[in-house]
Amino acid sequence: MIRACLFDLDGVIVDTARYHYIAWKALAYELGFEFTEKDNERLKGVSRMASLDILLEIGGVKLSSEKKEELADRKNQNYRTFILKMKPDELLPGAEDFLKELKSHNILVGMGSGSKNAMTIVERLKLEPLFDVIIDGTQVTHAKPNPEVFLKGAEALHVEPAACVVFEDAAAGVEAALKGGMKCVGIGSPEVLGKAHMVVAGLSEMNYEKLMQLK
Ligand code: BG6
Ligand code: MG
Repeated sequence: MIRACLFDLDGVIVDTARYHYIAWKALAYELGFEFTEKDNERLKGVSRMASLDILLEIGGVKLSSEKKEELADRKNQNYRTFILKMKPDELLPGAEDFLKELKSHNILVGMGSGSKNAMTIVERLKLEPLFDVIIDGTQVTHAKPNPEVFLKGAEALHVEPAACVVFEDAAAGVEAALKGGMKCVGIGSPEVLGKAHMVVAGLSEMNYEKLMQLK
């Protein structure tokens, strides 16, 4: 029985994964090394500070924690210049239709994002009415691949983890869903998200009938 769907935000509902990438790439450039799209896969779904640690490891750079705080903050300021310009029509193709279809079948809809900027995006794109519950990076102690964000979402919806399906574009997010005892649909490439129960290129490929195949 599937009673709820929990959606990651960045890279699933909105195309912000590319803004995170642009901002990290700019920081790497400043520090004097290349940061490729393949490298970026390791950062998807990962918290801000853990992302910076991975980036610095790739560049072979060691810094004090004070300097790291400063760089993470600078990346975030840069990232925010992008999201503050987002328009209500920047939802990824198929996202709004699928969420509405779920509601019409009485499936509960939640958001489970590790981002502390999630509410800025929710406000700018007026996403609140599409969700029954929103859990973001300000409400969790443990970042993905820890399942906390999804378990909190399930709890707030009063649904057992086993009756939840998570939609994720990041390997760390797929791992979080599985650790939480939930089903998972990967959004992106099977190469990266192979552990998910199903992988599709985007939410435009999803519908209620396909969801029910996961039962
Ligand atoms: C996730 C993104 O949703 O949020 C990561 O996939 C990002 O790339 C993480 O690092 C934390 O985001 P923020 O906005 O709190 O820096
Ligand atoms: Mg994501």
